[in-house]
Amino acid sequence: MTYSVGITGVGKYLPEKILTNQDLEKMVDTSDAWIVERTGIRTRHIAAPEQATSDLALEASLKALADAGAKPEELDMIIVATETPDYKYPSTACLLQAKLGARNAACFDLSAGCSGFVYAMGIGSQSIASGLYRKILIVGAETLSRILDWTDRNTCVLFGDGAGAAVLERVEEGYGILSLDLGADGTGGGHLIQPAGGSRNPATHETVDAHGHTVHMNGQEVFRFAARKMPAACKKVLQKAGMTIDDISLLVPHQANRRIIDNALTRLKIDPKRVWVNIEKYGNTSAACIPICLSEAWEAGRLKKGDNVILVAFGAGLTWAGALLKWAKESEVDTIG
Ligand code: ACO
Repeated sequence: MTYSVGITGVGKYLPEKILTNQDLEKMVDTSDAWIVERTGIRTRHIAAPEQATSDLALEASLKALADAGAKPEELDMIIVATETPDYKYPSTACLLQAKLGARNAACFDLSAGCSGFVYAMGIGSQSIASGLYRKILIVGAETLSRILDWTDRNTCVLFGDGAGAAVLERVEEGYGILSLDLGADGTGGGHLIQPAGGSRNPATHETVDAHGHTVHMNGQEVFRFAARKMPAACKKVLQKAGMTIDDISLLVPHQANRRIIDNALTRLKIDPKRVWVNIEKYGNTSAACIPICLSEAWEAGRLKKGDNVILVAFGAGLTWAGALLKWAKESEVDTIG
């Protein structure tokens, strides 16, 4: 038996502290002009010293649960997509479960880089569609500031901290997730990597001194991959759902670089007014980007029941992920109005 599955609640959380390009000018050899022109980023949020990924995840999850009118104990599963877990183990999903009191939920973390939230949506939705589960919390949460080399201008200007969450449930037939395209090209894994701290290069004084525990990125290779894969994934989910780009009300792309997004828009021939972009404010929050965008769009009344929405991401792995949804929730703005 298969059921239609969609999002019934969304929430986001951004830590209070804001780091501007001007702040970064004082830390590394960079300029506001370079960062804005090459990436589109002006500010990013940074977690407080006492905040870890599960704390950010908790704030976003509470909002998503309230939006869905769901109680933590009703959750059957929690999936946290993150590359910056609180610990190697236990999983951040288990830590979140304890904080929420979601005692009936199976919990695990998912590692698919910035594509993680859409991967979580794919896995979670299938567990409901099959009839196995009823309510699943999917979260994208990151404290990338903790794994950045703050002396490396090539990477430290790009990322920010934040979290977004969504509740998945059965929805009216024909609504919810209509098609998915999840993929990976592991041959490109070395282009975006935190090289030390795992079984290949366990932590030593030398790995710390060599900045092995921070983000290492071949920016141009990742850029090329993204420019190819984002439009390809969009076309794939459109084709699977029997739609064209003209049927899409809102495209939510991963927010890694304004130029990557613009490149995808041109290739897809979609009106920029139908694309959600917030990279200017938050930078790249990795797996949290897509649910933060969704939550913002929802709060702004930009998502109406029946709207066709594409979510598309790429990230470490290298991975890509696309999803096409028919939005299943009545607009709050409409209901109030
Ligand atoms: N300020 C000033 N100059 C800089 C900075 C900076 N912050 N960063 C790099 N430069 C310099 C470089 O050193 C280089 O100087 P050189 O020519 O003297 O060597 C020059 O600017 C040009 O560097 P490029 O790498 O060619 O710059 P590019 O236009 O490619 O932009 C960028 C670099 C922004 C990293 C781009 O390649 C990019 O966005 N790539 C994709 C990255 C990405 O999406 N990462 C996220 C992946 S998702 C995940 O899973 C985390």
